[in-house]
Amino acid sequence: MRFLRSLLPLLAVGGLLPSGCGRVEISLDSPPVVIATAARYPVRSDLMAVGDLGAPPKWFSPGYLPLRTARLGDRSPDPEFAAQLVPKVARLLPEPRPGAILDPETGLTGTERDDIGQLLDSYFGIPAVPAVKMLTADEAKMLKLEEALAPVKGKAPKDVVTEMLAEADSAKGALGLDDSTLARGGVLYRRWCLQCHGQTGAGDGAQSVRMAAPPRDYRRGLFKFVSCFPTSPPRTGELGKARKDDLKRTIRNGLDGSMMPPFAQLSERELDDLAGYVIHLSARGEAEFEVIARVIGLKVSPRDDDPTYSREFAEQRIVEKLLLTLGNWKRAADAPIPVPPDNCPTETDRLESAVRGYKAFAGTCAGCHQDYGRAEQLKFDLWGTVVQPRNLTLGVYRGGRRGEDLYARVYGGIYPSTMPDSKAKAVAPAPGKPDEIWDVVHFLQALGDPRDRKLLQQLDPSIKIEP
Ligand code: HEC
Ligand code: HEC
Repeated sequence: MRFLRSLLPLLAVGGLLPSGCGRVEISLDSPPVVIATAARYPVRSDLMAVGDLGAPPKWFSPGYLPLRTARLGDRSPDPEFAAQLVPKVARLLPEPRPGAILDPETGLTGTERDDIGQLLDSYFGIPAVPAVKMLTADEAKMLKLEEALAPVKGKAPKDVVTEMLAEADSAKGALGLDDSTLARGGVLYRRWCLQCHGQTGAGDGAQSVRMAAPPRDYRRGLFKFVSCFPTSPPRTGELGKARKDDLKRTIRNGLDGSMMPPFAQLSERELDDLAGYVIHLSARGEAEFEVIARVIGLKVSPRDDDPTYSREFAEQRIVEKLLLTLGNWKRAADAPIPVPPDNCPTETDRLESAVRGYKAFAGTCAGCHQDYGRAEQLKFDLWGTVVQPRNLTLGVYRGGRRGEDLYARVYGGIYPSTMPDSKAKAVAPAPGKPDEIWDVVHFLQALGDPRDRKLLQQLDPSIKIEP
């Protein structure tokens, strides 16, 4: 371990690792794993979706990745098909809103790409020595962070920087992103996750091809099945963050109905190490996205007060995002969704609650989950992947089937899939008054169960579920 630490200062000065420095051994409880130290995380080159892309046309199907397909071109297993597809995809995507799709391959010069790669290495390490590097106050001063940040009303720039540094530092501690945890997490990740989620967490591992829902791309800093909802008004980047426990639940239980398998054999510590490494990849990806988008932005949509490109400009963007992102992870961790106890002790209570839930569902959910999710109603999620509002008559849920899981899902919505939250419905229910979110949950549970479905329709003949 000491060897690992002694490497970090080398990375921290922003240089590459000396070539030919061999291999590093990382010790886990199981036999040590040896990896080449020279390997680096590649700089992103795939297309980047910025913001909501609207609704895809009917000839797309759920899980489809138009951005990746558009890129395949000659490299596609079926170049002729790809050639037909590219103009269609291109016509659909960027035109209505300039800057909706960015291309790091053509948007960055060689120097910009090299700078960004080296800076990301210095803050996030390399696969053999992953890190989340914090700045000292002096380093922040040298980087002229005070001048570089957007002004915050009513606060001196110096205080803003001091607060951001302190917040990120405490977040790093609370999330357990120390060097040895990350090194162990990296080894486990390469063993169990790499083949689907890819080296940088882009969701582009060898096995990712043709999965109905693609493996999650962590680089947007967004997750779907979470149980936190930061206080209002949420800060940019806070929504869609997961609690570490959410990541551990996903890894332990898998995501039902998708290719994400359960890893029930892993110990508590292994789950913790893996979740830490996912956060590391995610924070690195967010900083990378930000710096690439800003550097391309200098060229395609310059603002009046924009500087010209410099390595310092790139570093400021990376550091700003790193600090903000860690703060956001911490804020999400501190905002678990409060789930009140289920107050329907008898079967009759539960069915009556489900009937009330049906009415709420018909009002707010059925627009997307048309025919309870059996009718096609495609959407883009924030990665630019095509998603279909879930078919809720099947009773299969990615984020867990327990009442508490469904409650959290309805309360918080699914931010990256544009499913809205229902937080307002949960505000201080009066004593003895039914909780509308639990009503919806009881309806969902009845909807997924053929026997309950029958009982529900008998109880209220206006409810029609069977096609
Ligand atoms: C066989 C392929 C496969 C493997 C192996 C795999 N995953 Fe996944 N993973 C997926 C897919 C597919 C999804 C997305 C499912 C969806 O969106 O419905 C996913 C989603 C996730 C998510 C996102 C959950 C959310 O709330 O958005 C996390 C975190 C995750 N995986 C972590 C891991 C980790 C850690 C490992 C290794 C221990 C791993 N996965 C191994 C396929 C895989
Ligand atoms: C703007 C469209 C939209 C609205 C409105 C909407 N949903 Fe969804 N919902 C989706 C999409 C899209 C998904 C699939 C998410 C994915 O896998 O990316 C989904 C998934 C779900 C899931 C599956 C969660 C899991 O763990 O697999 C449930 C349950 C659900 N919605 C319930 C509801 C309820 C209840 C309401 C009303 C309070 C609602 N939805 C309103 C779009 C919507």
